[in-house]
Amino acid sequence: MGPTQKSTLQTLLSENRIFAPSADFVAQANFTDPGVYPTAFADPVEYWCSWAEMLDWFERWHTPLIWEKPFAQWFVGGKINACFNCLDRHVRAGRGDKLAFIAEGEPGDVRPVTYAEALVEVGKIANALKALGVKKGDRVCLYMPMVAELPLTMLACARIGAVHSVVFGGFSAESLHERINDAGAKALVTADGGFRRGAVVPLKRISDEALALGCPTIERVLVLERVHSHVLAATEAAKPVPDYDHGQWVEGRDVSWNALVPQQSPDCPCEPMDSEDPLFILYTSGSTGKPKGILHTTGGYLTQTYATAQMVFDLKDSDIYWCTADCGWVTGHSYIVYGPMQNGVTQVIYEGSPDTPDKDRFWQIIERHRVTILYTAPTAIRTFMKWGDEYPTRCDLTSLRLLGSVGEPINPEAWIWYHQTIGGERCPIVDTWWQTETGAIMISPLPGITKTKPGSATQPIPGIRAAILSEEGHDQTPVQGALGYMACAQEDSAPEHGPEVGGILAVTHPWPSMLRGIWGDPERYKQVYWSRFEDAYFPGDGAKVDSDGYFWLLGRIDDVMLVSGHNISTMEVESALVDHPSVAEAAVIGRTHELKGQAIAAFVILRAGAEPHEGLIDEIKAHVAQKIGALARPDDVFLAAELPKTRSGKIMRRLLRDVAEGRVLGDTTTLADPSVVAALKEKYEGQEG
Ligand code: WT7
Repeated sequence: MGPTQKSTLQTLLSENRIFAPSADFVAQANFTDPGVYPTAFADPVEYWCSWAEMLDWFERWHTPLIWEKPFAQWFVGGKINACFNCLDRHVRAGRGDKLAFIAEGEPGDVRPVTYAEALVEVGKIANALKALGVKKGDRVCLYMPMVAELPLTMLACARIGAVHSVVFGGFSAESLHERINDAGAKALVTADGGFRRGAVVPLKRISDEALALGCPTIERVLVLERVHSHVLAATEAAKPVPDYDHGQWVEGRDVSWNALVPQQSPDCPCEPMDSEDPLFILYTSGSTGKPKGILHTTGGYLTQTYATAQMVFDLKDSDIYWCTADCGWVTGHSYIVYGPMQNGVTQVIYEGSPDTPDKDRFWQIIERHRVTILYTAPTAIRTFMKWGDEYPTRCDLTSLRLLGSVGEPINPEAWIWYHQTIGGERCPIVDTWWQTETGAIMISPLPGITKTKPGSATQPIPGIRAAILSEEGHDQTPVQGALGYMACAQEDSAPEHGPEVGGILAVTHPWPSMLRGIWGDPERYKQVYWSRFEDAYFPGDGAKVDSDGYFWLLGRIDDVMLVSGHNISTMEVESALVDHPSVAEAAVIGRTHELKGQAIAAFVILRAGAEPHEGLIDEIKAHVAQKIGALARPDDVFLAAELPKTRSGKIMRRLLRDVAEGRVLGDTTTLADPSVVAALKEKYEGQEG
């Protein structure tokens, strides 16, 4: 266990408060019977079938699960379309006038979109994609701002059986280029720009740069005129739009969305997809090498996102739901597009930053649109805490009834602040553990059943079997999931924490929305997720379990950092660093950071002859941001003479973490030269001051 985990654990261990759902919440909750846990635990496949029954299938499956470890097929033989389940089914049932989106742009533009309107627009986008030559099975890369057209384009792809690969708009040209080529995308959908912190993110210009690096499979680029349209529509009162660089128009390749899409017919039939046909690819960082294209298929993914959205968020017809993620991350795929939309919910989406024009933007949005359910990340919560209570308290947040958290462990202090200051002590908090790879929520409270403990994601949801295993693979879970759960749920007095047992999280039964592999690399899939344990999926997270059977997730145990809730690999940043002409060698670690969870600290050895000059550190940081994206910009770059290595030449990151976090150095006896790290520590502490 790394030092980062130890410090997470220390904060978590001191936490023993227990919060039961209020009688008012329970009275209206969708799920209140804990009996669902043992039932689902006994027969997960049967349980998931009962959810799959609720979706619209063109043809029913004949076999619920074929499990040829590590390859699963769910609802085999079934024919289904994701877009049909998100749009057509609601419109056909007479719910077309219900709002699907209230899309708020950063400049303040608000666009309501009903389910019927979404269906018309998606039909047109789908026909436009077809006109550009996109066919079933083709990959389409989306590099767009967080406006309504992004989820609608995802649905348009799903409608015609094209596989979407959304690349977050904060990634660099090189990252976009790499992802386009790995997926072999035929078309790119982008925009002239998007608004972020009062400026324009020049998505088209960055796309041009990515394509200039060589993307042989891309035939056409569809460009949404987001910024230009906004300028045309802006009233005099609206702030002037800053100058922006919208790149170069390439005739024959680039196509204007605003010219092509509106003239299309809205009628576009849904492609009946096989349950196991790919729905999307989404890239995530691995501990080594290039990003992994996580592959998700259709029937099982739709089933688990539908079920978990309904169970965990207690979705009701009257809700106004807001998930603050971007569609560039899996949270946006599962809990903006597929989960909530299959449930026909009304949701808010927001394009920009939380501090534009002021630090109360989120709370203004909640007040303006009467948001009832808020799903956000600990890194954001900690930032809001730091900004101060004045921002939320000047807004009316009484519409909220349920709060969610995702992306990293939530520290109890942030949990309590969220509970009191945002939730007014009336809203249950669902701390949801899952991954890009799991596709949907795996460990979470059910808000009408579960007693919560701040900092614990509690227990696997019904239908999921997971355990905390020792290093050797022995099960440490004290009570079989479902039973311990019920004991805590039914007890009147708050049970004390029992002794915690530490280990590694494992998922011990296949689940419907599990990844079906890494795009183009089945061997890597086996090696990364299925070689650590004999018979279980290995997510790469450390965890503890208490005597109630509650899980306490402690963060990554591999070389993946969790920066603001997003995976970034130490390797990726290291290779960006050594790409800088002055850098010879680099070692990167994630150090504990108050707001981001982890911050990137880089130890860098300069090339012989490269002189450390004024501005070099900033130049190196900017180089990483340019190679990967702003998210990966190191917080600290320290110049070192040597790095601590074992006799076999492995860099000892554990010691670098000790240095970066100002701790007494751990065991240095395996080092080739113990004096290296002592010198490093001294120098580091000098540079820091
Ligand atoms: C990693 C997955 C799931 C969508 C966003 C991140 C960490 C996620 C929690 C939580 C503790 C969490 C894990 C996981 N994580 N949620 N509630 N408590 N840790 O998706 O980029 O695939 O990252 O995020 O370490 O492995 P991702």
